[in-house]
Amino acid sequence: MRLLSYFCGMSSSKDIFYKNLAQTTPFPMGIEIDSARGSWLFGTKGEKWLDMISGVAVTNIGHNHPKVVSAIKTQVDKHLHVMVYGEYIQKVQSDLAKALNQVLPDDLNSFYFVNSGTEANEAALKLAKRETGRTELISFNNSYHGGTHGSLSVTGNENKKYAFRPFLPGVKFIDFNSIPDLEEITDKTAAVIMEVIQGDAGVRIATPEFLKAVRTKCDQTGAQLIFDEIQTGMGRTGKLFAFNHYDIVPDILTLAKGFGGGMAIGAMISNKEKMVKLTHNPMLGHITTFGGHPVNCAAALANLEVIQQEIDFNEVERKGALIEQLLQHMEVSEIRRKGLFFAIDMDSFEKVKIVFDHCLANGVITFWFLSTGYAFRLSPPLNITDSEIQHACEIIQQGFDLCK
Ligand SMILES: Cc1ncc(COP(=O)(O)O)c(C=O)c1O
Repeated sequence: MRLLSYFCGMSSSKDIFYKNLAQTTPFPMGIEIDSARGSWLFGTKGEKWLDMISGVAVTNIGHNHPKVVSAIKTQVDKHLHVMVYGEYIQKVQSDLAKALNQVLPDDLNSFYFVNSGTEANEAALKLAKRETGRTELISFNNSYHGGTHGSLSVTGNENKKYAFRPFLPGVKFIDFNSIPDLEEITDKTAAVIMEVIQGDAGVRIATPEFLKAVRTKCDQTGAQLIFDEIQTGMGRTGKLFAFNHYDIVPDILTLAKGFGGGMAIGAMISNKEKMVKLTHNPMLGHITTFGGHPVNCAAALANLEVIQQEIDFNEVERKGALIEQLLQHMEVSEIRRKGLFFAIDMDSFEKVKIVFDHCLANGVITFWFLSTGYAFRLSPPLNITDSEIQHACEIIQQGFDLCK
């Protein structure tokens, strides 16, 4: 019947989703979205879901924030794509660079806008090689840096890699928060790439001593320190960037996800002296057609302004503490959290699945981690209300009760 309606041109979006759209797992959530506003997703049959993951750390200011939508519309009326990245002067790109310059340390003053997180990391690794003339890379066990070959080469999750070898040679993986392991960083190391708070490893927070030791070792050896803040940036952890919790600045910073307010944009950020090396030997050292798309830059600029004007980081912390308190339960073995970035540990994948399924069936979206099967994630919008928090936590608590 489904096939018949497909060939008669009567196939539904759902039919086409399963038949013609690529899937990433055999069991996609498969809910059918009509619209989204604030913390809520709305279905085609009148259903609604409270989005406790923000499309996986993207819609940090809620879905379809009116200021982001308005900025997009204004830019759409001016121009869309006009030229590959880096040739023409486009005011909206310059405005975004200026706004970022004002919120970042002096040495992070040059911005290469790209399309995604993985592309930002690819560009960062290339810049580090070009800057140092070295090839070795250091990354961390259980890290995640993206799905393309370079980013996957520095991803410390064998489960996502084994089917796709070979990867970049010369990549070493060390343990997060292990100061002795930093001996692996030498004068052959081009870059150390790390998440300040490891996301898909289940919200593992760098200790201040560890991060300081990484910075010192990179300074001693001349290795470039790359902070991947693709998931932790844009207020997620209760400061604009996770590295703001520490008195440490990277050589290269990468952003995406929550950077675009719901639009597809990433950034590779460093200083001008370094960045200029992508312009020669070879010329066009990193190329992207759509990087810095003007509509996405308009969205990213509005998103940054909304975070600055409407998000109170004390409130982010208060709401984080409230959720932590409301999720205490005998089935929960540990909650790791920074701001509104959560990993909730249970004692098995089966129990996590019971909670996930119950939440989905009752209108609350939670999600998995790539490297931590026994935990689930929460990364709600930073402007979620207390009553939305109460509602979500009640449903999650019911899920915990089902595990007994
Ligand atoms: C820390 C980190 N780096 C890189 C990426 C890759 O970003 P994208 O999916 O936009 O390529 C992700 C995505 O989850 C991420 O969490």
